[in-house]
Amino acid sequence: MDISGKTAIVTGAASGIGLGIATALAEAGANVVMADIQKDAVEQAAHGLSGTNKRVMPVRIDVTQEQSVLDALAEAERNFGKLHIVCNNAGVPMHGTRLIDVPPGDWEFVIGVNIWGIIHGIRHFVPAILRHGEEGHIVNTASVAGFQNRRGTNQGPYSMSKYAALSLSEALEHELEGTNIGVSVLCPGPINTNIARGARNRPDHMGGPQVRANQETVLAERLATTGLDPKKVGGRDPYEDVLCLCQRRSRRCHQGPPPSHRGCLNSPWVTHS
Ligand code: NAI
Repeated sequence: MDISGKTAIVTGAASGIGLGIATALAEAGANVVMADIQKDAVEQAAHGLSGTNKRVMPVRIDVTQEQSVLDALAEAERNFGKLHIVCNNAGVPMHGTRLIDVPPGDWEFVIGVNIWGIIHGIRHFVPAILRHGEEGHIVNTASVAGFQNRRGTNQGPYSMSKYAALSLSEALEHELEGTNIGVSVLCPGPINTNIARGARNRPDHMGGPQVRANQETVLAERLATTGLDPKKVGGRDPYEDVLCLCQRRSRRCHQGPPPSHRGCLNSPWVTHS
């Protein structure tokens, strides 16, 4: 698919991987709707990109809430017309607590953002592409944690949500077979983003922003020492970047697995680079 002139929406675009994807799409000539729950941060990020003459628009979205997704879609279509590319990327961590100790509110938070966020995107963004009939592409962000629950990390709730992201992508791919909409799932290894502080953006209806000192310190240290630059995920590598997935309508992707994750690569969803 030729990306230039197409319209894309990227959730979680104020930071990290979403910002990397939005930047790469804008540089390739797409109109980019940068959607994020952090209103100020996403406006600032969009301002940074529009200063380089890119066609970008910030929108506040809370992917846990259906009406917010509908409102963002309406705003995107009002500004740029037809939607072609959807990156359901917003996500939060949930590490460091044993399954038996995770409170219901924390389950709701991680399921709300990481699973319902993708479900709402599938229910509303995909029909918006089907309606006009032109080519499109969906990229859902999962993780290597969607292939493997790593022993000793107590990341069960997060990993479960990423298995769900993978399964939803697989089912969507089956259902869209025969259409001109491609489906990919992005499965990054460690990327040096702000995800360790993911609870900073916990929606008010789910308890509001939090600091989770334990989780944040451990994760932040791991990502700072082993994480890739998030720009590379949006970016330039012919095997790994989101741009390529959309252009080639590739269906599968595995992003930069660290050696510790190599054992999980025997999945049909993995593109070996
Ligand atoms: P990040 O924290 O830097 O960016 C996440 C963005 O999502 C933030 O801007 C945040 O405001 C936004 N967000 C959070 N909740 C939201 C909601 N309810 N509605 C709308 N936006 C919301 O984190 P990062 O690392 O860029 O995460 C992006 C995706 O990549 C997530 O799905 C994450 O699980 C996934 N991922 C990250 C990895 C890493 O090592 N950083 C590895 C594998 C997957």
